[in-house]
Amino acid sequence: MVSSLEDLSRKVRDNNQGLAARNSLRPPSSGLRPPPSSSNGTFPAINSAQRAAATTPSSSLSPSLTVPSPQARARQKVVLQPGHSPLDWAHLNRTQPKHKLRGVDPSTPPPQYVKVNKEELKKHKSRSDCWTCINGKVFNITPYVNFHPGGVDEIMKCAGKDGTSLFNKYHSWVNADRMLENCIIGVYVN
Ligand code: HEM
Repeated sequence: MVSSLEDLSRKVRDNNQGLAARNSLRPPSSGLRPPPSSSNGTFPAINSAQRAAATTPSSSLSPSLTVPSPQARARQKVVLQPGHSPLDWAHLNRTQPKHKLRGVDPSTPPPQYVKVNKEELKKHKSRSDCWTCINGKVFNITPYVNFHPGGVDEIMKCAGKDGTSLFNKYHSWVNADRMLENCIIGVYVN
C-alpha cells in the first residue's frame, strides 16, 4: 500500500515534469487556436519564397532600421515674399495703429468685450477676410497670412474655424497670443 502510494506520487511528479518540459519547447501561447491548415497543432510548413522574404532584410519590412539620407531629412522650407519675414511682421506690429491689424472700426469695444460664436467665425474664411480661433481667442489673421513661415496654404486650413488643434499639432511652442497680439478680435463662445 505504502509503496503503491509512493509509486503513484512519483508518476504524477514525472508526468508534471514531462509536461513542463514539453510546454517550454512550445512557442508562447497567444490564446488563439492554431491556423486551420494545421490539424495537429504544429505550425504549417512555409515555402522557400516565404522563408527568403522572412529572412532577407528589406527596407519595407524594417523601416525603423533604415536611416534616411540627409537630403531626405531636409525640410521643405517655405519661401516667403520679400518684406514678409518674422522681423517684418514684428516691425508692422510696432508701427501700425492697433485697430488696423485687428481689421475693425476704431470704435469697436476692446477684445475682452467682444464675443464671437461659431456662425460669426465661419463668415471669415477668405484670404481677404480671415479669422481663426486659437486657444479660445479669435484673431483676424488676414494681415498675417503672407507672413506665416509655414506657408499660406497651411495657415488657411484654420480659416473661419477653431484652429487650435492644427496649430498645436504643428507648433505648440509658438506663442499665438504674442504673435497676433494686435490682431485679436475677441473671445470665442461656442
Ligand atoms: C494663427 C495661426 C498660426 C500662427 C500664428 C502660426 C505661426 C507660425 C510660426 C511663428 C512658425 C515658425 C515656427 C518656427 O520656426 O519654430 C510657423 C511654422 C509653421 N506653421 Fe504655423 N502658424 C499658425 C497656423 C498654422 C496652421 C493652422 C498650420 C497647419 C495647418 C501651420 C503649419 C505650420 C508649419 C508646417 C510650419 C513650418 C514648421 C517648420 O518649419 O518646422 N501653422 N507657424
